[in-house]
Amino acid sequence: MRIRTEDKGREHLRELLVNDEVVSFLVVIDYQMRIGKALVRMGGIGRVETKEEQRMKGYMRKLMEDTVEYMKSEGYDVSMLFGISNFYTKFGYAVCLPSHKLTVSTRDAENARGDLGDYKIRKIEKEDIDSVLELYNENNRGRTCSIIRTKEHFSEFPKGSSSGQPPDDFLIMDNNEQVLAYAVFDRSEQEVNIIEVESKQDKVFPTLFYEFAKMAVERRCGHITLFMPPDHPLAEFSRRYGCELITQYPKAGSGMMRIINQKTLFEKIRGEIERRISDSNLGGYSGSLEIRADTGSVTLQVCAGSLNIFPGRKAEDFLHLPQSKLIQLVVGYRTVRDILGDSDLEVSSSLKPLLNVLFPKESPYVWLADHF
Ligand SMILES: CC(C)(COP(=O)(O)OP(=O)(O)OC[C@H]1O[C@@H](n2cnc3c(N)ncnc32)[C@H](O)[C@@H]1OP(=O)(O)O)[C@@H](O)C(=O)NCCC(=O)NCCS
Repeated sequence: MRIRTEDKGREHLRELLVNDEVVSFLVVIDYQMRIGKALVRMGGIGRVETKEEQRMKGYMRKLMEDTVEYMKSEGYDVSMLFGISNFYTKFGYAVCLPSHKLTVSTRDAENARGDLGDYKIRKIEKEDIDSVLELYNENNRGRTCSIIRTKEHFSEFPKGSSSGQPPDDFLIMDNNEQVLAYAVFDRSEQEVNIIEVESKQDKVFPTLFYEFAKMAVERRCGHITLFMPPDHPLAEFSRRYGCELITQYPKAGSGMMRIINQKTLFEKIRGEIERRISDSNLGGYSGSLEIRADTGSVTLQVCAGSLNIFPGRKAEDFLHLPQSKLIQLVVGYRTVRDILGDSDLEVSSSLKPLLNVLFPKESPYVWLADHF
């Protein structure tokens, strides 16, 4: 039995061979991802499969365990995947990404007609990609778990709300041909599924909604569906029309993450944590705490607004927990209060106010176009 890796640009195909035949394979994709405004290197795991006749023989366990070690040696900070239930928890992955589906009735969205602006609307062309990427990267600057898009890897929207579903789109421009907003949705004759919207100015929102409403009327569809995080400005705006939001928190599947290298992860998010402390009422706090998980131990030393990070234990106060819970705290999927209720962690009692500042609740999100 052996494992080989084939590198194709940022994709690394890992195959497990038995008697020189491939039985299991997966791909590790090299991404840059945000935690707050910080960037970390994320290994996206995709295309996980064992040949049907070779299943339940422990081959994928071997490949997944080896791949975690591989990502460690290749310098990844965290890993993410969108997976089947009750499988990836075996390899330290924890649910970190809720999914959100917001619906507005077509009839209600038609009310946007009263506030339309004077804009040009057309499809996204190849030469618009710089403006679209700029708008995406600017608007997602602080969005935890959002993927950094570059022209090299993102020259067009690759899919709609699922793999194999072709996308469609439009741009909104002002009279000087400046891109003000874009929307991407499923190419469909029945549904209006919006998978991504970004805009420079909130005043284009009624125009966006009215375009969606017109599409829905054409498709004889009673509602518009928007896949977006609930704190997105357009999701907040949609409340005025009346809307329904369904958020799913899967038990042990779908968008999951784990820590690969705890030390480099904390070094990379140091500035973000420092900002969280200085923006809080603990701006003048000085003290240290050790965070220990099965991926190692780091000490965070806070000194009047500045933060130093050391490997190992160099503090009296501590938080000891599995890395699968630490990653949920780091991306703000679970609150400190919720995590501290678990029986498999230990914490110094005085640390709670500081932990609340270090790990605030967030709305981690990966846009559907980036799902792998
Ligand atoms: C899921 C899949 C990759 C598992 O591969 P495999 O080589 O059979 O897995 P292993 O034999 O190494 O099993 C490892 C562990 O997972 C468990 N397991 C296997 N298939 C599972 C499944 N579909 N769901 C949950 N657990 C599963 C095994 O019982 C074993 O548990 P243990 O080691 O704790 O005793 C394989 O069934 C497959 O290719 N399925 C179709 C494609 C797919 O669903 N891929 C995942 C996309 S996210």
